Amino acid sequence: MKELKFAIIGCGRISHKHIEALADNVEKSRLVAVCDIVPEKMDKVVEEYHELIDKQANNMNEDVKEVKKYTEYNEMLKKEDIDVVAIATESGYHAKHTIDCLNCGKHVLVEKPMALSIEDVDEMIKIAKEKGLKLGVCHQNRFNPPIQKLRRAIDEGRFGKIVNGTARILWNRNDDYYKQASWRGTKALDGGTLMNQCIHNIDLLQWMMGSEVERIHAERDTFLRNIEMEDFGAILIRFKNGSIGIVEGSACVYPKNLEETLSIFGEKGTVVIGGLAVNEIETWKFADEKEYDKEDVSSQVDSVYGKGHKPLYKDFIDAINNDRDPYISGEEGKKPVEIILRAYEF
Ligand SMILES: NC(=O)c1ccc[n+]([C@@H]2O[C@H](COP(=O)([O-])OP(=O)(O)OC[C@H]3O[C@@H](n4cnc5c(N)ncnc54)[C@H](O)[C@@H]3O)[C@@H](O)[C@H]2O)c1
Repeated sequence: MKELKFAIIGCGRISHKHIEALADNVEKSRLVAVCDIVPEKMDKVVEEYHELIDKQANNMNEDVKEVKKYTEYNEMLKKEDIDVVAIATESGYHAKHTIDCLNCGKHVLVEKPMALSIEDVDEMIKIAKEKGLKLGVCHQNRFNPPIQKLRRAIDEGRFGKIVNGTARILWNRNDDYYKQASWRGTKALDGGTLMNQCIHNIDLLQWMMGSEVERIHAERDTFLRNIEMEDFGAILIRFKNGSIGIVEGSACVYPKNLEETLSIFGEKGTVVIGGLAVNEIETWKFADEKEYDKEDVSSQVDSVYGKGHKPLYKDFIDAINNDRDPYISGEEGKKPVEIILRAYEF
């Protein structure tokens, strides 16, 4: 298996999850360069990478720790020998940064939402296909063990006819959060709470319902935060298979994050997965019984980002090495963006 050389563009809040995932997959991957327009941010992530690598038991070769820093990504792409670029910049820049990297012959793992328009999403998918490169999207919650267990029950048809599903994202993003970076809550670079905070659970809901969308109704408003887009959104989705999905997404819950819950209701089964970030099974009931029903897969998470970036990287590396589609491809990343953009028509 080839050792893949990675670079990261955007060294802000979420980049730490990428660093953790790279350090966790260090036998098969290596961070060779990082880029941010703010140099201090790169120092922090490289320092963190070194600390994590040092913790690995197997006396890592020192040159694994050599990570170059760039403030201009085109220069980095030109000068460094890179196989894969992870894009963790503001959402409104994902399409341009992804397309530039693909055009330089790099595989791309892009943060969610993969882009803010369907035209951009389609262009990203098209260029990756034309160039024979992998495009993966960070919907890491699909790897949460309770979500994997639910997906298995769905694949085995244990729900019978699925009637409805609910995605609730009841979080708090206060004014300080929005003040941290001027792009947050803007139409051009972020979107509102549906596009930023709720996209993971909307993705899980549509993935579990297993059907294309027939029609959508939405209501949204900006109740409490001083932002351009919504701080609360509700979506009602009729899927083509007849089932109904309900999304309730809030950045306004007092006084702090409450829950991120996915519930699926079928003729012969009910599952509710909750916790801070869909990480704990709260209800698991089926008409039939299976051995794996008893497996306790719930786990605590220290932040709403969860623990999914590590398995996501493992899968993406394997997809490149075995020339197969990543588990969460561009086509998969498009589905929740499409739902949210349709909700934004209301
Ligand atoms: N998967 C998840 O659970 C998850 C969680 C949080 C954020 N995100 C996504 O990750 C992305 C980044 O979010 P964040 O909270 O880390 O934001 P952030 O503002 O903390 O970080 C973005 C970084 O990109 C840098 N940047 C901007 N333009 C650049 C350029 N041309 N070249 C190099 N660097 C550039 C900025 O200086 C900044 O450091 C967003 O799209 C967000 O939706 C995903």
